[in-house]
Amino acid sequence: MKIDGKDWRTVWLESDGQSVGIIDQTQLPHRFVTARLTTLEQAARAIKTMQVRGAPLIGAAAAYGMWLALREDASDESIERAYAALLATRPTAINLKRALDEMLAAVRNRSRGERVAVALTRAGEIAEEDVAINQAIGRHGLPLIEAIAAKKKGERVNVLTHCNAGWLATVDWGTATAPIYMAHDKGVAVHVFADETRPRNQGAALTAWELSHHGVPHTVIADNTGGHLMQHGLVDLVIVGTDRVTARGDVCNKIGTYLKALAAHDNKVPFYVALPSPTIDFTVSDGLAEIPIEQRSGDEVACISGKTHDGRIETVQLVPDGSPVANYAFDVTPARLVTGLITERGVLKAERAALAAAFPKRAGNKLQSRLTVSS
Ligand code: MRU
Repeated sequence: MKIDGKDWRTVWLESDGQSVGIIDQTQLPHRFVTARLTTLEQAARAIKTMQVRGAPLIGAAAAYGMWLALREDASDESIERAYAALLATRPTAINLKRALDEMLAAVRNRSRGERVAVALTRAGEIAEEDVAINQAIGRHGLPLIEAIAAKKKGERVNVLTHCNAGWLATVDWGTATAPIYMAHDKGVAVHVFADETRPRNQGAALTAWELSHHGVPHTVIADNTGGHLMQHGLVDLVIVGTDRVTARGDVCNKIGTYLKALAAHDNKVPFYVALPSPTIDFTVSDGLAEIPIEQRSGDEVACISGKTHDGRIETVQLVPDGSPVANYAFDVTPARLVTGLITERGVLKAERAALAAAFPKRAGNKLQSRLTVSS
């Protein structure tokens, strides 16, 4: 997508051919800073500290991280080490494991001499695939927005979204935002309510930033506002992203998504989830019981960062000294609350049969356990 007229992606091979560029998302929205990754350790740290975040981008960044590791050492032991180090960075988004498995499959039967080049090619392909998938999600989601616009006779369509499932969370386009960007670019009047998304405020900081750079009308709302807006008919549909969808259609996404789904259900507001197929985990079924929920530092809840009147970035403490805090990063929305899954192969029911029919190869591979490195 464009920033001030220039095309950007969230991760790229630098022109030196030896390092990986990223947008440092911890600096947004007040500073636009890029960073250069040259080692496995830097790639792992970038994912862990959320310089890069969002399920699809975590996957692509991990793929490049594997390449960086192989540049240093292309041995089997190094591959194992890199796989483990990258996998340990964040537990919930399944795209991370998927990308690492694909990297492993690409390099494991290659000679040491071939591995570096093969890894770079595969990482680039994973990134390109994400872009193409998100464009397809946009094409399939667009008619949902257009249908509401037609019903409202051109009056603006209000979409509520949670967290950041925009282009910053992917390599480009975003998942939840792809239909929104396409609608906006086509001249459909679309307006986004962006949940601020405490504690890390991805909605306030990232979704608002990217929507404003693309010129999409939007309003940032406090997390608890969505239910009220829905009760008053001010939300036409909800579109969120996801970090993992189970075989039966349960949806794991940023903490607070479940409450939005409940409010949408109570108010008969359509609740859609946009996802690339690498986000489907056919090895799990019951999202509540089987998806590991990341718990992050309590500091993210206890403190908040922002820009002061004189332009400095400062972090301040919100809670009393010594008050215990808990920081659950994700929750699970049961399939029954999901109106539809917007995928690169169309809008599907959040049901086992629909997912398996649309992605038979992925569903069939579910028993494939982790590939091992051949010697
Ligand atoms: O903790 P984050 O910022 O990585 O969480 C991101 C989300 O929950 C997104 O909604 C999800 O990854 C989908 S991104 C297209």
